[in-house]
Amino acid sequence: MKVIQIQGGYGLTHVKQAERQIPVPGPNEVLIKVRAVSLNSRDLGVIGGFYQPDLSNPLVLTSDAVGEVVALGAQASRFSIGQRVSGIFTQSWISGEATQANWSSTLGSPLDGMLAEYVVLPEQGLVHVPDYLTDEEAATLPCAGVTAWHAIIEEGNVKAGDTVVVQGTGGVSLFALQFAKLQGASVIVTSSSDEKLEKARQLGADFGINYRVQPEWEEEVLKLTEGRGADHIIDVGGAATLNQSIAALRVGGRISIVGLLSGGSVEGFHVVPAILRRARLQAINVGSREMFESMNRAIKNHKLRPAIDRVFPFEQAIDAFKYFENGSYFGKICITL
Ligand SMILES: NC(=O)c1ccc[n+]([C@@H]2O[C@H](COP(=O)([O-])OP(=O)(O)OC[C@H]3O[C@@H](n4cnc5c(N)ncnc54)[C@H](OP(=O)(O)O)[C@@H]3O)[C@@H](O)[C@H]2O)c1
Repeated sequence: MKVIQIQGGYGLTHVKQAERQIPVPGPNEVLIKVRAVSLNSRDLGVIGGFYQPDLSNPLVLTSDAVGEVVALGAQASRFSIGQRVSGIFTQSWISGEATQANWSSTLGSPLDGMLAEYVVLPEQGLVHVPDYLTDEEAATLPCAGVTAWHAIIEEGNVKAGDTVVVQGTGGVSLFALQFAKLQGASVIVTSSSDEKLEKARQLGADFGINYRVQPEWEEEVLKLTEGRGADHIIDVGGAATLNQSIAALRVGGRISIVGLLSGGSVEGFHVVPAILRRARLQAINVGSREMFESMNRAIKNHKLRPAIDRVFPFEQAIDAFKYFENGSYFGKICITL
């Protein structure tokens, strides 16, 4: 079978198509024929050497996919042949609070990922996906979808009347926009592009702020909330945005620390404004299978459709990563098999 893997060094020049044996499921495992994969910012981090310091063995890329069950291990009983499933991002995190040990079970680093014609996963690490979604749409859920669900619903407790700020128009932020709208919140989207802000409005955003035109976007958030500040902010910027997120927050508001797109170390973190706002910082690390299943029920009930920018065929997988690096997308980039 064909796989896309990184080997021998970092950077896209070390990402290659390779041949491997079709894996055989163990007693409690399932063989899946992969139909579609979606890319996450983390996959570029793996390629760049940020997440996977040890590349002594080739690593199959990407965490998120959907596929069809084609064979079952002798004791596997949660799924049947022909059903459509997704692997959960953190394979061993089923429910409740995660443990440190769970972090060694994430797909696409350190475990082999999903950009392969076939994968074998433990049956406990799989979920059904909503029937009405296309394969590409369903493939966007495991990392970006579950992260946004965890931040907005499971821990964020966002409710009608709240104001939520989402930064940028990438995968996590657009899911967060959609989930916040389900709860009846008002959503402010920040973006580098007016064109993307217009697309975000079509997805339900109430207000848009172009952070290139208005680098002090926190002041605009305060204006839009009549000085009160936002109830919840999805911070994907990290270094460049966290102080601004605190400045844009209402007293007692909450920031989901999700991303590090502008760097993972915040120099000059302003403690006093954080205290004055009684800022509650909740760091998010994707989520459990139970969260994924709850999210799927909500997606199905409301017939939500993930935002997909572009789909590439498997033969052009490396072009898909190049397009992703280029940064001019809105929502998710997928690869079909
Ligand atoms: N903690 C977790 O569990 C978790 C899970 C998933 C992702 N993440 C992290 O969250 C971040 C976003 O992931 P993703 O997959 O959603 O990324 P993505 O789809 O690649 O989205 C990136 C988008 O964010 C916007 N952006 C870039 N730099 C920004 C900045 N300095 N300030 C505000 N917006 C900025 C841009 O949108 P515009 O062009 O519209 O400005 C860009 O297109 C990444 O750092 C990723 O590693 C963390």
